[in-house]
Amino acid sequence: MIEEKIFLEKLANHHNELRWLYMELYHNDSMFTELCDKMRQFYLDRNRNLKSSDQKRESDKEWYRRNDMLGMMFYIDNFAGNMKGVEDKLDYIEQCQVNYIHLLPFLDTPLDRSDGGYAVSDFRKVQERLGTMEDLENLTDACHKKGINVCMDFVMNHTSEDHEWAKKARQGDGEYMSRYFFFHNDYIPSLYEKTVPQVFPTTAPGNFTWLPDAGHFVMTSFYPYQWDLNYKNPRVFNEMMYNFLYLANRGIDIIRIDAVPYIWKELNTQCRNLPQVHMIVRMMRIISEIVCPGVLLLGEVVMEPEKVVPYFGTVEKPECHMLYNVTTMATTWHTVATRDVRLLKKQLDIVSSLPKEYVFLNYLRCHDDIGWGLDYGELSYEGMKERSHKQYLNNYFQGYEGGSNSRGELYNADPAMGDARFCGTTASMCGVEKAGFEQDSEAMERAVRMDVMLHAYMFMQSGIPVLYSGDEIGQINDYTYKDNPRKACDSRYIHRGALDWKLVGQIKDKTSVSGRIFKRLGQLEKIRKSEKVFVCHADTWTVETYDASVLCIGRYYEGEKMLGIFNFSEYDKTAWINENDGIYTDMISGKRMAASGVNIPAYGFFYLKRNGEIPDEKI
Ligand code: GLC
Repeated sequence: MIEEKIFLEKLANHHNELRWLYMELYHNDSMFTELCDKMRQFYLDRNRNLKSSDQKRESDKEWYRRNDMLGMMFYIDNFAGNMKGVEDKLDYIEQCQVNYIHLLPFLDTPLDRSDGGYAVSDFRKVQERLGTMEDLENLTDACHKKGINVCMDFVMNHTSEDHEWAKKARQGDGEYMSRYFFFHNDYIPSLYEKTVPQVFPTTAPGNFTWLPDAGHFVMTSFYPYQWDLNYKNPRVFNEMMYNFLYLANRGIDIIRIDAVPYIWKELNTQCRNLPQVHMIVRMMRIISEIVCPGVLLLGEVVMEPEKVVPYFGTVEKPECHMLYNVTTMATTWHTVATRDVRLLKKQLDIVSSLPKEYVFLNYLRCHDDIGWGLDYGELSYEGMKERSHKQYLNNYFQGYEGGSNSRGELYNADPAMGDARFCGTTASMCGVEKAGFEQDSEAMERAVRMDVMLHAYMFMQSGIPVLYSGDEIGQINDYTYKDNPRKACDSRYIHRGALDWKLVGQIKDKTSVSGRIFKRLGQLEKIRKSEKVFVCHADTWTVETYDASVLCIGRYYEGEKMLGIFNFSEYDKTAWINENDGIYTDMISGKRMAASGVNIPAYGFFYLKRNGEIPDEKI
């Protein structure tokens, strides 16, 4: 009874806005009533531990914005075989100082048409080879006991063609056809194609797939076996919200809303970032605040900054809690290839100027390709043109140009547009693979330095850092995907290799590459966790260094100040900064030094902390 009352109070707090949004989109009273009834049921079903964690988090809204958050993402099978395996390896996760794991897609999917698990055939079933829903609950529970948060993907834009709705739709059941976009001839699809860009121009061209057995076209923005859901149908919205709440109740802390910009389609538009998408995300936020307020929404918006930021919503009407810092990630690799920090500095200044409530996830790479979404307007002032610059970046990272030591492969190369994205692990892109192959110890030292410097720089950014599993030990590209016909045409598998536990076994060996990288990243993580200047809402800014290859980032919080200086070139440099507000200590070596005219070796970095606290008014 008390639970019931609490639910009604929570609902009452948000009811008007939720109802208004729902009616704007669906004009359907009875479906709204059904939604509220189901929310009540999911609230009552939510277990006591999760509810008490919700309560704690509600009274401590900063809980995920502190400096102790460090994420790691991995595929369950690649990391430890199955869910139970992950549970057995939680000690290693702790050793990595990671307290948030993103389990890449693990729900049921046809193995031969899975898009890395992003084609879900059952939102309530775990892939058999990975375990069961019960294993998932045990895993989330075991993680929570160790203070580890669990993130999973919620692939809401589409289902697999093997989902039961899709099967019924394929058989011509109108009720289910209306949950997707079906067309009996190519007239409307051809109108869409006039304005809708392609996600996979080479591996899955076009946005529609002809189904000969059904005699219809179906909308497939991604692979032909991923059918776009029609969110104009309130049944789709409601059922997907029930799936979301079902998964949240299994103990998931962070829901990554996959491909969120795509979820609403309108003819004569690009079918991306439409206003209705924001209404849906806002409703999801409200629903989660009512039923499972401890759960965070992480939006996957791989778009230019003006399109990304609106997914935070406003301070009064928030949408996602966290978003990927995708432009900064791509700009980082541009900086590596050009040894020119100007564009990156500008990008970091844009991020620093945003409200501090916005939390970005920072990363060097993820399970997806790196798309060259840079600010070409800005680059054109330096004489760089989009097409030729993309060509340069792709050549550079394949190791063909610009004194590069990188290794990796193109993704979705589109010769007509002169476009391609890039795939590779951080270590391979830094030269670890090439140096290892050539057994060149000097080159290896340089590669390790670059790898560690990039992590040190990433940790300095405003937000939460996330590692891709394997990067903590400098794991290189995995070419075995080419032997697997199910994977061979998707080069993203090159950087999704299985974690090499033999290398993990060497992390204590300071002479090994994995040992060197693991130890140095561990040191950085420790610093990040113990220094309060790393909280998400610290001030961050960039400092002019008067050297095009050297980046300097400042952080300030409650009297404490830190400077991170990073050399993106293969030459020793001097950072011509002049911060004469005290003596600094290099947090890596412990040496005291002045923060002016700092000599910085090739691919080196400094973490300088100002000694002592200086009262705010003197700064
Ligand atoms: C997201 C995923 C990507 C997948 C796509 C389609 O972008 O990160 O791996 O291919 O969505 O679901």
